[in-house]
Amino acid sequence: MPLVSMRQLLDEAAKGGYGVGAFNVNDMEQIQAIMEAAKETNSPVIIQASRGARQFAQDRYLYHLILAASELYPEIPIAMHQDHGNSFETCKSAIELGFTSVMMDGSLKEDGKTPATFEENVEVTKRVVDYAHERGITVEGEIGVLGGVEDGHGAGGSGLEHITDPDQAVEFAERTGVDALAIAIGTSHGAYKFTKKPDGSVLKMDVLIAIHKRLPNTHLVMHGSSSVPKDLQDIVNQYGGKLKPTWGVPVEEIQLGIRNGVRKINVDTDNRLAMTGAIRKVLWESPEKFDPRDYMKPAREAMKKVVAQRMREFGQAGHGGDYKPISIEEIAKGYKNGTLSTRPLVASK
Ligand code: G3H
Ligand code: 13P
Ligand code: ZN
Repeated sequence: MPLVSMRQLLDEAAKGGYGVGAFNVNDMEQIQAIMEAAKETNSPVIIQASRGARQFAQDRYLYHLILAASELYPEIPIAMHQDHGNSFETCKSAIELGFTSVMMDGSLKEDGKTPATFEENVEVTKRVVDYAHERGITVEGEIGVLGGVEDGHGAGGSGLEHITDPDQAVEFAERTGVDALAIAIGTSHGAYKFTKKPDGSVLKMDVLIAIHKRLPNTHLVMHGSSSVPKDLQDIVNQYGGKLKPTWGVPVEEIQLGIRNGVRKINVDTDNRLAMTGAIRKVLWESPEKFDPRDYMKPAREAMKKVVAQRMREFGQAGHGGDYKPISIEEIAKGYKNGTLSTRPLVASK
């Protein structure tokens, strides 16, 4: 199956009332882990690469590895997504390379650190939407700012500093025409999100629900959605790691989000923890080993297990064969003739 538009994948998820995990990749083993999990659970998939990942791997490698995945698993719909694009140029280069979806994260300035103004965010996001839709490519925007810093990207601080304002979310969706909207509800990137199991004072599910009420048909995106499970932390620490106690986003909160318009859930940290724990275990228990396959194989297996579990928990499992891909050219026509709407339905307060 050719790579599919993320818009199609999310529209189908909305029809089916489920969420789709978007998993970050940097190398072949991570792509393999996701595809094996998708095959086992019969799931559609979103594979995403950050700017850091594109630089680390050289993005052309990642593109061709994902194309290989689409050849090896022709029954599985795959959307290839740019995670946290920091500028029009980053998104344009992803589209030129063959990504079927981009995130223009205009919540931050191009440095990926300083919060942008609302008007700056609208302007750059709209520019990307115009360019991308003409070519049939999906766009995710972000309103509000997440906490934390990953690989130099992020405003830092806690997730509570720039929670999304529902009125701004409505205006942003109306003025930009994004296909999917990432919102800030208190989560952060990375392992250190919460100092105890989060409650409503730090994880603002009420804000998410308020936004969904105003934008009932808009596909919402939860970033920073790793659950940072204790068992994965424990494996890392048991074999020489030094993670401090921490909490992530409980899966039941994500499921509440999915019942309230969340269609895309970004997960990276849980897979990083799973792979690192598995590698540490091998090297700790068998220090004489030096063949990378001896630790990359268990690492890949550990990531596959986490991804398959999330696919079941998000509800995408079983939906891999629901639909035929619409070509990117047809999607572009749909944006042009209005069959694919870019005007959000807005409910009154
Ligand atoms: O946005 C956060 C993702 O976890 C990607 O992180 O920029 O370190 O690749 P990265
Ligand atoms: P985590 O760090 O919680 O896995 O979040 C990943 C993410 O949001 C990627 O964009
Ligand atoms: Zn993110």
